[in-house]
Amino acid sequence: MPYSATSRPDGAPPLLSTKNIPPRERLIFAMDVSSADEAKKLVADFGDSIHFYKLGLQIFMGGGYYDLIQWLRDRGKSVFVDLKFFDVPETVKLAVAQLNGRGVTFATVHGNQEMLKAAAAAAHGLKILAVTVLTSLDASDLRDLGFECSVKDLVLSRARRALEAGCAGVISSGLEAEQLRRNHGDKLLIVSPGVRPVENRRVDDQKRIVTVEEAFLKGADYIVVGRPIRNAPDPRQKAEDIQQSIAQIFEPGAHDRT
Ligand code: C5P
Repeated sequence: MPYSATSRPDGAPPLLSTKNIPPRERLIFAMDVSSADEAKKLVADFGDSIHFYKLGLQIFMGGGYYDLIQWLRDRGKSVFVDLKFFDVPETVKLAVAQLNGRGVTFATVHGNQEMLKAAAAAAHGLKILAVTVLTSLDASDLRDLGFECSVKDLVLSRARRALEAGCAGVISSGLEAEQLRRNHGDKLLIVSPGVRPVENRRVDDQKRIVTVEEAFLKGADYIVVGRPIRNAPDPRQKAEDIQQSIAQIFEPGAHDRT
């Protein structure tokens, strides 16, 4: 059913997330560093400017992954396990079950319907997010991979199937967030990587990018940002600047003003 909200009583843009998420938790930092020691140093440097950490493949391969999860949880931080599970459903199920009880908020699966179902059924207390189409891939990459549909159609079909499989949401570019929100309303969590502050546009491998503001106005619930923060001259200041932008977007009444 199409999303019916065209205007909101608080004057906020119609697609802006209404989920009860504190604005400072809407920024997820991609902790793509090589060791747990390096990660802990970054967390200490960021202090309150980052609340939510995404732990991906690089830090996983660096060792001490579970200890790092516990260390972050002991400090009140939220954790996103981004290992993009892809295997036979039984193995995906058993891998997801290993995360239960560790205080993890999100985990990603990059697979077909059966894998997604197995992951969703095994998850207790954590939410499964389905990867739609990596934000580093564009239409010509998809053609190379043998897909004959558009990026948008593939994202929309994968998102619909993820919901049917019992997943809580999707990882999707802010570019497709708008249509996802219109199609599914608040039923779907939308986590958008490929976010580039205006001054960082088109400098790396991310092809389908949006700014912080665009991502949220198009309906993202969370954004994932890595390199624009990590490679900034002052990462903590950069994180804080993004937090300020997010606070302004979600501040009640912010969109009444011209
Ligand atoms: O450094 P950058 O801001 O590009 O970080 C993007 C992060 O989001 C990386 O950790 C990458 O693994 C992840 N990601 C992505 N696209 C997806 C899913 C995850 O870029 N579709």
